[in-house]
Amino acid sequence: MREPRPASLRRHPPRVHELEAIHQATALLAAQTDPDETAVATVCLCGELLEAHRALLWWLNGDHLVPRAQWRDGAAWSFEDELAGAGPRHGLSAVRTEVESDGSLLIPLRADGEPVGVIVAEPEPRAVFDTADAAQADLLAAVAGPALRTARRLHDAEATVARLRDVDHVKTEFLALASHELRTPITVLTGYLSLLEDGAFGEMPAASRDIMPVINARLAEMEGLINAMLETARVEDGRLHLEIDAWDLREICDEAVRRCDVFVHTSQQLGLLCPETPVPVLVDRERLLTVISNIVHNAIKYSPSHTDVHCTVAIEGDTAAVAVKDSGLGIALEDMNTLFTRFGRIRRDPATHSIMGTGLGLYLSRELARAHGGDIRVESSPGAGSTFTVVVPLAT
Ligand SMILES: Nc1ncnc2c1ncn2[C@@H]1O[C@H](COP(=O)(O)OP(=O)(O)O)[C@@H](O)[C@H]1O
Ligand SMILES: [Mg+2]
Repeated sequence: MREPRPASLRRHPPRVHELEAIHQATALLAAQTDPDETAVATVCLCGELLEAHRALLWWLNGDHLVPRAQWRDGAAWSFEDELAGAGPRHGLSAVRTEVESDGSLLIPLRADGEPVGVIVAEPEPRAVFDTADAAQADLLAAVAGPALRTARRLHDAEATVARLRDVDHVKTEFLALASHELRTPITVLTGYLSLLEDGAFGEMPAASRDIMPVINARLAEMEGLINAMLETARVEDGRLHLEIDAWDLREICDEAVRRCDVFVHTSQQLGLLCPETPVPVLVDRERLLTVISNIVHNAIKYSPSHTDVHCTVAIEGDTAAVAVKDSGLGIALEDMNTLFTRFGRIRRDPATHSIMGTGLGLYLSRELARAHGGDIRVESSPGAGSTFTVVVPLAT
């Protein structure tokens, strides 16, 4: 049996220095970002404020309270490994600090009304806590609960980010490896195909000749995908080095459109409109070609085979712009964020399910455009088609 604390030791409603202590506790806890350090700081503040013999903090893991930090005889520490053991009775349901029948305090820690944990504070021998102590503990708990929750959320978020970074790294490595391995067979296939077409193995039957455009288009598509994978791995690893030179953007667009010719349907037209005078740009020609042909290829891929695609080159102030306009599926506002993400594909329309792609094209294109000091803009509405505009600085 504990005896009541002598009157001289009993606490009364918070005095100025106690409020100051709470104020300092707020500053101290707000500065914590590590959950264990926050738990230790909390039991320490609690022990000192209440002049407790012992303060034990339990925090909520899933549905269970597990002991996490302790203050005893002026020293505080956290438990490295969570100890087993049932948490204090009604530890989760308590809303305010309660004086227990043995004179100890049960201090619930909450944030936005949700339980975060609980502290059990035991008084010095032959003493008991009273409602004045409970009121002080409540002041501390009001600060400690949210601080503990924030620190734990931050910790969980950091762990998730680290995990995602690992996964991301594996993806990049896979991209580099897979694309490297795939490139050789594609090169061999392309070589043989061109020999076949040139009659190096004898005259080709007319029926075989007819299917050559299909084979060529598919091979070009695969080559594009593999190149996108390789380039993405380079961007991610910081291995992208631009080879900048002076070019006429009209010529680059002409080449990009020519490269996309294999994808154009017979009932479709792919047009290119350019200014009459040169549009000088300082760019990595091959990279800008990739960007523009990606955009043009998308415009063809994501449009019905009877609708046309128009490319327009223009000078806008100190930038050069290539606008690629289609009358295809269009993109809903809520899907705009997916467009430029790595592997981001929009599969809302069943018509897109059979369309081949990796979702790397726009991600890579924007990275490349930005590496040139440019960008890609989109205007689109579902059903009405899209206009993707690539902008790069004009060479002056
Ligand atoms: N012109 C377009 N019209 C409609 N949707 C498009 C267009 N261009 C791109 N998209 C959508 O954006 C997604 C991402 O494009 P992209 O990164 O080039 O990947 P991929 O073409 O490999 O699927 C596509 O899967 C498609 O859903
Ligand atoms: Mg694409």
